Amino acid sequence: MNNNNIRNFVIISHIDHGKSTLADRFLEITKTVDSRNMKAQYLDSLESERERGITIKMAPVRMIYHHPQIKNSELRMQNSEFLILNSKLSSSEYILNLIDTPGHPDFSYEVSRALAAVEGAILLVDASQGIQAQTLAKFYAAQKQGLKIIGAVNKIDLTDKETVEKEIKELAGLLDCQPEEIHKISGKTGEGVENLLAAVIENIPSPKDNNNNNRALIFDSFYNDHKGIVAGVRIFDGEFKISDNVYLIAAGQNFKIKELGYFKPQLEPAQKISNGEIGYIATGVKETKKIKIGDTIINGKYSVSSIKDFALPGYQEPNPVVFVSFYPENGDDYDNFKKSLERLKLNDSALRFEPDKNEVLGRGFKIGFLGKLHFEITVERLEKEFNIKVINSFPSVSYRAKMRGDLEYVKIESAGELPDDFEEILEPMIKIEIISPTGHLGSVLGLKEHFRMENIETKNLGERILISAEMPLAELISDFDDRLKSVSQGFASFNYEFSNYRKADLKKLEILAAGSKIAGLAKIIPKERVEREARKMVEKLKEILPRQQFSQAIQAISDGRIIARETAPAMKKDVAGYLYGGDRTRKMKLWKKQKKGKKKLLKMANVQISAEVFKKMIH
Ligand code: GTP
Repeated sequence: MNNNNIRNFVIISHIDHGKSTLADRFLEITKTVDSRNMKAQYLDSLESERERGITIKMAPVRMIYHHPQIKNSELRMQNSEFLILNSKLSSSEYILNLIDTPGHPDFSYEVSRALAAVEGAILLVDASQGIQAQTLAKFYAAQKQGLKIIGAVNKIDLTDKETVEKEIKELAGLLDCQPEEIHKISGKTGEGVENLLAAVIENIPSPKDNNNNNRALIFDSFYNDHKGIVAGVRIFDGEFKISDNVYLIAAGQNFKIKELGYFKPQLEPAQKISNGEIGYIATGVKETKKIKIGDTIINGKYSVSSIKDFALPGYQEPNPVVFVSFYPENGDDYDNFKKSLERLKLNDSALRFEPDKNEVLGRGFKIGFLGKLHFEITVERLEKEFNIKVINSFPSVSYRAKMRGDLEYVKIESAGELPDDFEEILEPMIKIEIISPTGHLGSVLGLKEHFRMENIETKNLGERILISAEMPLAELISDFDDRLKSVSQGFASFNYEFSNYRKADLKKLEILAAGSKIAGLAKIIPKERVEREARKMVEKLKEILPRQQFSQAIQAISDGRIIARETAPAMKKDVAGYLYGGDRTRKMKLWKKQKKGKKKLLKMANVQISAEVFKKMIH
């Protein structure tokens, strides 16, 4: 079979530069979605995506497009072997497999998997924003993958001509092409979009013809109650048909294809999917652990000894950078929580989780995330898609700590895991690159102290400036993103990568109520911030701790020293109030009895920290 009329491509860009809106226009031009059903950012189908107006998941869609400028005869001349792949298509019709991708760096694992499933990319730049940190990051990733990249400057309806021309030049510089090769478009009005689609056909190579074996790469997956686990696949070799017996190389698992087909973008069943195409395979498998993203599906007929040679390169496992423990609000939901996490992981393969326990909140899971937004979105998805409400601990990075006399460092992913008498602690450092309009340089550099930025270097990029620095990862997951946006009025952007572990002067801060440590409220923070943070926490706890019949001491300790202390006063309950008049002896008796009762309660005071209090302390 010949692939000349297939094009597989992604749209990549910085956050909000208009990927999903451009995809909408493609869906309209190709009549993939009926105009009555069309809605803005059509491919963003998750509730969290629609509410926040951002893409979280990659979204594949197969479109059929009639190229208006290429006549059949011209195409036949271009390739004498031209064969029509699908008898329903005319020779000027094309199968365009588009994958829309997220822009936020926390979801770059989604992007990298999409890049491995296609031959080309449209790199989009918002004309009013210009090249941003994620434009560069996405460009380098696509280049590394060897993709054909087509540049487009978007939102030209919003921007004056001069700015558009300037951005075209900059983008041409980045792509090392002529300014005339950069497309001027508006995803909103549709201007220039049809030409861009034609350029996809003309410039992006068709998939290689491979018909030796049957091999498909799983680039995504999700759970369906009727079809079992459904895998999003790119066929790299041969073809797959309904009822084929197939084998998963990494999982070592056989299954019979229950259904297969295309993303339109809803699932549309077909009889077969062939080399070069993107589609889905419903496995019928229900056990979530058996299907792994990055695994290769092959025909079941090969012998076990030779199958490893057929494995496609797959994906590098992503490294979580933020760790948070979660406990279901309702303890009875634990099993349901576990099942929900397993299903969510099918659709979000960057999630890592392991069982965890908390004295106050009971059984839960420690989950590793690719960033703070990834963490927030996961909490939202658990609630919206799985109806699980959770309470979480403070987010933490992964430290390395050494005990006195030990040679080895141990991994510490929450403050509670850090022994009191540790000797040395290393924290993860990142290399951060910020792109900011030159006018905001001063304000961006003003963040230096607060976020412990070091080794700052700047490089002029015309009207923008590139600021590179080293910074602890823990600072990035505090409120760096928000602060950077606010000091640059939304114009600065950043990208980062892990650099190394570095020795740091960090302390463990713990909170005690009525003499008992509150598990889950411990923090690892820089020495110079311990006192301020200690004060803040004890004051907050005093305010939110429900009043008891006795007063409660609230303390913050670090290095075995009490750093801050408050007393939550006892609830005022006049036990003798109902006795009128002057029966003093009777009143004294009651007060004495109350005092005794308080002493007894004080002994059990450590059980008084409710989940509600815990939740308020964390947020
Ligand atoms: P992420 O996936 O979250 O990175 O966003 P995105 O790149 O998919 O951007 P999206 O399509 O969601 O558009 C972001 C905002 O820009 C939306 O409010 C769009 O309506 C708007 N927008 C997109 N393209 C254009 C355009 O050509 N002109 C104008 N005026 N607005 C546009």
